[in-house]
Amino acid sequence: MLSQNFFSILIALKFIPALSQSYTQNAHFKGRDFLGAFNWETFDDPTHGRVNFVDQGTALNTNLSYADNDVFIMRADYHQIVPSYARGRDSIRITSHDAWGDSLLILDLAHMPEGCATWPAYWTMSKNGPWPQGGEMDIIEGVNLNSNNLASLHTTTNCTMPQTRDQSGQVISTNCDAAVNYNQGCGVASTTPNSYGSGFNNNGGGWIATWRSPNAISHWFWPRNAPNVPDEIRQGDCGVVTPGDNWGTPDATFVWSQCDYSSHFDPHQIIFDLTLCGDWAGNAFPTAGCGPGNCQDFVDNTPDAFQNAFWEINSLTIYTPQS
Ligand SMILES: *[C@@H]1O[C@H](CO)[C@@H](O)[C@H](O)[C@H]1NC(C)=O
Ligand SMILES: *[C@@H]1O[C@H](CO)[C@@H](O)[C@H](O)[C@H]1NC(C)=O
Repeated sequence: MLSQNFFSILIALKFIPALSQSYTQNAHFKGRDFLGAFNWETFDDPTHGRVNFVDQGTALNTNLSYADNDVFIMRADYHQIVPSYARGRDSIRITSHDAWGDSLLILDLAHMPEGCATWPAYWTMSKNGPWPQGGEMDIIEGVNLNSNNLASLHTTTNCTMPQTRDQSGQVISTNCDAAVNYNQGCGVASTTPNSYGSGFNNNGGGWIATWRSPNAISHWFWPRNAPNVPDEIRQGDCGVVTPGDNWGTPDATFVWSQCDYSSHFDPHQIIFDLTLCGDWAGNAFPTAGCGPGNCQDFVDNTPDAFQNAFWEINSLTIYTPQS
C-alpha cells in the first residue's frame, strides 16, 4: 500500500498542469537576423570597462560583427594597440529592440569570449527601468579565466532566495537586492563541466535554455557533446515546446517564495556584451592568474590576447506561453 501511494503521488506530481504548459515560437534569430533585431550601443560602459562600444556600421566595416546565413559573430578588436587617451579597446554591446516577459529563451552558442581581462555577458534587463526596477537576469556571465558560469538576478529591495532549491548549481549569494553587497545580486554557479570560458569553447559550446514564469526562473545548460540533449533544444526552431519536460534538474533556479515576482520583474530586452576590465574583471584581474601588470595595460598593449574574445551564435529562439 505504501509503495502504491507513493507511486500515485509521483504520477500526480508529474501531471500538475501548470508544470506542463505549451509555449509557441515568438521569434527566431539566426545569422543576419541579429542585424535587424538588435541595436548596437555606443554609450560609455556603465560597469567602467576599458572598452569603446562601436555602432553597427563601424562593427560591420571592421568585422567586429559578422553575419551570414548561418552564423552571427561579434568580438573585441584584436589588432590595435589602444592609446592611453582612448576610451578603450573597440568592442560591442547589443540590445534587442523587443522585450519579453514570461518566456522561454533557447540559445545555441558555439563560442563565448574568453581570456584575461574579458567580462562577457548574455543577459536581460527591464525595458522600462530605470535599473534596477523591473529587474535584471544574468544568464551567462564570468570574468578572466573563470571556468564556471554564474547566473544571477539583480532587483529592487525585498527579494531574496532560499538556500535550498531544485538546482544542480552552487549558491553563491541569496540577496538579489542591487543595493546590498555592492550589487553582487543573487548568484548560482554552474557545476556542469565546460559551462564557461575556454572549457565551453574547446567543447564546441552548447545550448542554454532559460525559462521565466510566475513559478520560477530556471536555466539549463547542455554541453555540445551531452548525451541527453532534448530534441526540441537541439533543433532550435520548433513551433511548440513544453519547457522543462524531461529536461532534468536545472543548473540554476530562482523562486518567488521570498520575492514577489510581478513587482520585481517586467518585460526585458536581451543583451549581449563584451566589456574588458571594469568593476568585476578589472578588480579580479590581479588574483586571476593574468598578471603581472594591471588590467588596463594588458588591454591596451596586448591585442593578440583578444583573438578568442568573441561570441559566435548559431541561433536564439524565443517562445511565449500559449494562451
Ligand atoms: C570576418 O570575420 C569572419 C568570422 O570570423 C571571417 O570568416 C571573415 O574571414 C572575416 N573577414 C575578414 C575580411 O577578415
Ligand atoms: C516583502 O515581500 C514579501 C513577499 O515576498 C511581502 O509579503 C512583504 O510584504 C514585502 N515587504 C515589504 C516591506 O514590501
